[in-house]
Amino acid sequence: MGYFRDNIEQVKGYEPGFQPKQTDVLKLNTNENPYPPSPAVMKVLAEINAEQLRRYPDPTGDEFRQAAAQVHGVSPDNIMCCNGGDELLTIALRAFCDEDRPAAYPVPTYSLYPVLANLQNCEVMELPFDSEFNLPPKLAAAGAALTIVCNPNAPSATFIGVDEMASLADELDGVLLIDEAYVDFAEDNCIRLVKDFDNVIILRSMSKGYSLAGLRFGYAIAQPPLIASLMKLKDSYNVDAVAVALAAAAIKDQKYFAENVEKVKKDRERLTEHLRELKFEVPAGYANFVLAKSKERKAGEIYDKLVERNIYVRYFDLPGLSDKLRITVGTSEQNDKLISALKEILSG
Ligand SMILES: Cc1ncc(COP(=O)(O)O)c(C=O)c1O
Repeated sequence: MGYFRDNIEQVKGYEPGFQPKQTDVLKLNTNENPYPPSPAVMKVLAEINAEQLRRYPDPTGDEFRQAAAQVHGVSPDNIMCCNGGDELLTIALRAFCDEDRPAAYPVPTYSLYPVLANLQNCEVMELPFDSEFNLPPKLAAAGAALTIVCNPNAPSATFIGVDEMASLADELDGVLLIDEAYVDFAEDNCIRLVKDFDNVIILRSMSKGYSLAGLRFGYAIAQPPLIASLMKLKDSYNVDAVAVALAAAAIKDQKYFAENVEKVKKDRERLTEHLRELKFEVPAGYANFVLAKSKERKAGEIYDKLVERNIYVRYFDLPGLSDKLRITVGTSEQNDKLISALKEILSG
């Protein structure tokens, strides 16, 4: 075509997990929470009025910032609301990276990072994790303007300890963005690093732990000067009035959130055990999905046979991942259905 900038012409856009139109499928491919959002969210949704829609929303979503600040023990000035955690990634790449300012991250990881970096036309340094998903030793020395660590990592579900992340933040000259989209299902998190490091940005998502993937709401936590500058890059009204009201209701209901997270974690352990019984190799996971390595059959073949049964998991035909399946933790019943199908496929 020739209309676009060269790097845009060359970028292969992000490929989201398949969203089947039918409803009679078992969908364990995009890490959604199997439980509905809090009843408090549904109540606020039912009470949305015309006036809230007629007017422009609060540009900074302060109702949510205040609620989230209280939950995390920080100030509202430490928080920026985003249209999904993905918007924060876009903003960070635009803020810190260009032709002379590279991005770095360990791989394999969230496949959106290289797409956004290519759109920004910055150099990308992809440093491989070792086989146990430990941080690449040369990450700090790579000298990136923006280093991203997904923690827990997708798709491995592994977790890097907070002390190690603190050392990395300390060694880096540039910014460290810690993508905590899945941290609600882990045992610890890196929010406390924000107090000590002016170069740390934490990404949070309301899509997983709070069952609001359809709403599109995420947020950044960082020191106030960083937040204030990041705000310059966002759309004026990047989070809409309905999203702010619903996300605030969700984060205020910590009891419902904690109960759901516990259910998912319990089912994750059960699913892991059952997969191991079927001779899959499954590392200890700290997210709402597991990465299962098939030793008996090709992962792609198992994926196809699951699709024939209307069961969707995620298969990445990529280096280091092509022998594995990423499986979202569903309800106990959904996980049992998957395990029965796998038993049938592996014995066939
Ligand atoms: C690793 C990771 N980071 C960030 C996100 C962004 O989440 P959202 O934009 O739904 O808040 C996702 C979504 O799947 C993810 O997997």
